[in-house]
This record gives sequence, C-alpha cells and structure tokens, in this order.
Amino acid sequence: FHLDIDATETDKGTYPFYMLKEIDEQPIVLRNLITRYLPQNKEPQIGEGIIKDIKAADRLYIVAAGTSYNAGLVGARMFERWAGIPTEVHVSSEFAHDQPLLSEKPFFIFLSQSGETADSREVLQNINELGYKSLTLTNVEKSTLWREATYALPLIAGPEIAVASTKAYIAQITLQAILAYALADREQLDLDLEQELSKIAIAIQGIIDNKDALQKVANDMLVPSPNAFYIGRGVDSAVVLEDALKLKEVSYVQTEGFAAGELKHGTLALIEKDTPVIAIMTQPSLAGLVRGNLAETEARGSKTFTIVTKSIAKPEDDLILPDINELLTPLVSVVPAQLLAYYTSLGRGLDVDHPRNLAKSVTVQ
Ligand code: AGP
Repeated sequence: FHLDIDATETDKGTYPFYMLKEIDEQPIVLRNLITRYLPQNKEPQIGEGIIKDIKAADRLYIVAAGTSYNAGLVGARMFERWAGIPTEVHVSSEFAHDQPLLSEKPFFIFLSQSGETADSREVLQNINELGYKSLTLTNVEKSTLWREATYALPLIAGPEIAVASTKAYIAQITLQAILAYALADREQLDLDLEQELSKIAIAIQGIIDNKDALQKVANDMLVPSPNAFYIGRGVDSAVVLEDALKLKEVSYVQTEGFAAGELKHGTLALIEKDTPVIAIMTQPSLAGLVRGNLAETEARGSKTFTIVTKSIAKPEDDLILPDINELLTPLVSVVPAQLLAYYTSLGRGLDVDHPRNLAKSVTVQ
C-alpha cells in the first residue's frame, strides 16, 4: 500500500523536532487509513478471517502498554457499543503475570506502535501456548507482534521517530473504529464512519493551524508549574490518561489524568493556588458534572483550561472543538494536549524527541 504523502519521510526537514512533524502528519495518517480500509462504497477492508474469528468470540481482550493501552481504552468502548462485544483492556506487564479469568471463547487484540514491546510479546507467547487467536495492530510490519499473532493489520502511520507517540495513537484508535464498524450491524448505527473520519481530519488540521495559541497557554500555565491535572468523564476519562502521559513524558511536569468524579475522593487535596487543571468535555450528558468538578478545583485556586465540543461550549470556555461522534472525539480532543506537551517541553528547553530515561521501544520487561 503506497502512503500518499511524506508521512513515510524519516527526515525531519525544517521541523525542530520529530514530535511536531508527527503531530502535523495526523490528518494525512487519517486520510491514508480511510483510503486503505474504508474505500468508497465498499465493505471495510478488514479481511473475513478476522471478522469471522472475532464474531465467534464471546469476549475481546485488548492488551497493550503506555499510549497503546490508552488507545485500547477508547477502542474497547467502540467494540462494546458499536459491535456489542464485551471487551476488557489490560496493561500487558500486568496481564502477563496477573492474568484474569478468561471467558470461554476469548479473542485477543494487541496494540503496539513498534510491535516489539517485551511486555506485550510475553503475553502473546502465553496466549499462543493457550491456543487462543489474536490480532495485532502495529505500525511495523513483520515485527515480532506482527509475526507471532494469528492476524495483523498495519497502522500505516509512517515511521514514528519521537519517543512520545502521537500519530500512532490516532491510527490505533482509527483502526479500532474501522474494525468495530466492520463488526457492527451498521443498519443500527447512526454513523457514516468514512464521512466522520474525513470531518475529523479537517478538525485536526484546524487545531494544528492554530497551534501558536497553545504555545502561549503552555508557556503561561504549564512551563512554570511543577504539576498539572487533566480531568474528564466517560470516554474523556480515557483520553486524559493519554493527555497526562504526553505532558509528563516530554516536559517532566508531574501530571495526572483523572476521572473528574474521582477527584473529591482524595486527589483534590493536591489542588492549590495556580495548580493547572485542564478539563476535557466532549460528552453532552456528562459535561455539567465535569464543570462541577472543575469548579471544585477552582474554589481551591486552580488555573483552569477547558477543551470542549461546540454543542457543550459556554462563553467562558477556552478551546472549542467541532461536534463529532461521541466515541470518535478522542481523535480530536487529544491534539491540543499533544501540542501543549510539545510546547511545554520546548518552553523548558528540553530535547522533546528524546526525553530522559525513556526509549522509543521498550524491549525489556
Ligand atoms: C508513549 O508516548 C510512549 N512512547 C510509550 O508509552 C509507548 O506507548 C509504550 O512503550 C508502548 O509502545 P508500543 O506501542 O510500541 O508497544
């Protein structure tokens, strides 16, 4: 499959860091996935073996690490709500040694940008010994997780060089959406996925085009702060884990992503004057509750920033996103957080692409 633009280019060209280049490539990556997997007026191009074997399963287990795990938390909601398949998501390093009771007919999905993460490879070896079937979604064809799984599908995101994963996260969520859509009874779904993903590619481009505003927020709010919080509910509670991981791994700002309703059960004690609290609100039924939780932090002196979708937005909100299918909002809401992480790291004079202590592919346990 030929990528239609320089997302395959491994030279960073005029970019100061690969992370910014890879954030900018995300609309292209989305379009490449649509072209490859959702060609006009055709069935989703997933492969009948995968569809048959997943439909024969009574439960899906998504196994991954880091950002890939965070992408799995979003995908799980799509498999459950669009395709009606009960789904669990597990951190590979835990699953390998603390395996839950499995269902009668499990099917495993491995998410991995590199396809070489040791924790995930260990689980796949265990799964193969147990004789269960698996599908790997990875950005590296012929990688270990690609070769040793029953099936494999490429993320076709082009080489991801920066340690902090961005376009691979977008690709993993998108490919899981396409798979869930392929498994679903699409008559029941009020969703034209190809159209929605095309809309999302434009929305991501819009955020990227206004990145300077986020550089200012990063410099004012995050660069000087020792810590920060991202809060959200529903699928946003999964995205805030990724938002926090991005910020802490490239800027070293101690950041937690938190289910907004959980704050008052302890963590609120950490909120003090000027503590940055960023709220993601993309779920209409939950926005009021998140606003209440955010107000609780404001009463303790927090500095707030809100990222909301249009239909939820109020005049005081900071960043407005277009209205998107509720389970696809992570594809758009994560981009401001990726850019805030990038600019905070830059503002602190750090090597954005090579954060201390970290490797791009963790091939040790
Ligand atoms: C994310 O920005 C990190 N680079 C890290 O958490 C990464 O997602 C994790 O190590 C898993 O890597 P993989 O996707 O290659 O398996």
